[in-house]
Amino acid sequence: MSNNESQNPDPVIAATKPCLTSLEEGKRYFWCTCGRSKMQPFCDGSHAGTKFRPLKFVAEKTEDVLLCACKHTRSAPFCDGAHNNLQDTYEEASAEEIAAMSDAKLIERDASNGGKAMLDGGAYVLSPDPVRDEHKGTLSWQTLIGAKDGAKHLSLLRLSTAPGTSPWMRYENSDTVMFVVSGTGSVDIEGKSFTVGPETGVFVQAGEAFCIHADEPITIMATICPQSEKPSWPDGPNGAFNAAFAERRVGVDHDKAEVMADRFFQILVDEQVGSKEITQFIGEVPLSRAAFHRHLYEEAIVILSGEGMMWTEQCRAPVKPGDIIFLSRRQGHSLECTDARGLRLMGAFYPSGSPAINY
Ligand code: FES
Repeated sequence: MSNNESQNPDPVIAATKPCLTSLEEGKRYFWCTCGRSKMQPFCDGSHAGTKFRPLKFVAEKTEDVLLCACKHTRSAPFCDGAHNNLQDTYEEASAEEIAAMSDAKLIERDASNGGKAMLDGGAYVLSPDPVRDEHKGTLSWQTLIGAKDGAKHLSLLRLSTAPGTSPWMRYENSDTVMFVVSGTGSVDIEGKSFTVGPETGVFVQAGEAFCIHADEPITIMATICPQSEKPSWPDGPNGAFNAAFAERRVGVDHDKAEVMADRFFQILVDEQVGSKEITQFIGEVPLSRAAFHRHLYEEAIVILSGEGMMWTEQCRAPVKPGDIIFLSRRQGHSLECTDARGLRLMGAFYPSGSPAINY
């Protein structure tokens, strides 16, 4: 082992955030593994004399990606969120950032705009009002995020079912990812019954019919992707259940929680249960204000407990349990928890991936 190697056994942390990079399909790249390059995230030859070698890869398609700059990813060259765990606490807003955003305008809910508090870039906070519900049998529903709200990829509907059985529904070309906010009962997918309760996630594949049996009033947040707000109403199941994904229900399991510094999240619905488009997770935020950041995905967030403030570039709006937040792709934001008991939330986003990946 050379002197350099024994002195430099670990890669240098070039940055604690990934690099947003535009890749060209078929083009060859050399990702820096040593962290010494001045051309992050790519190699400039600075690894000379160390044990490190650049990682060569060819872009599969032309797209914007997040390449790791902390050099601790397990999915090289892509960021996998490992940068969040390089410190004991999740990256919080600095004193400079807080001072720079101190003039952010407090936005009130606007009754003439469906009760939304419109933030920057089309992001908004909404406190759903049952007055806007539509009704069919025991089912009441309301679109909280959709095409008319500026979303491009997903819709979020609130489904409320009185005790009994809801009408059958089907989205012919869209997956449905449900999250039970409150109540108990079961979700029937093409004749297969899945018992559900608070904080259960359920996946329904495009083309499958489903209905809700409510033992008591149930409130479900349903994310639909590709976005669609109008289901068809079949008379019953048509036997289209995809048995390749037999278990469609996922509950909270602390053993499956992933630690992100002083926060944690648990993926509920993802490709493991058949969802290729949407990832659904549940997370907890301690009393803190996250540093301003962005994601490459479009996201719907539901506040389950705790209070806080949603910040975008020039605006802010308070959030409380039951509120929903819409964020378009790349929208800069910061969620502050102002509640000593912490803030609990459900997030669902497209394209699927890890909620820990931010830039
Ligand atoms: S920058 Fe390294 S894992 Fe995100």
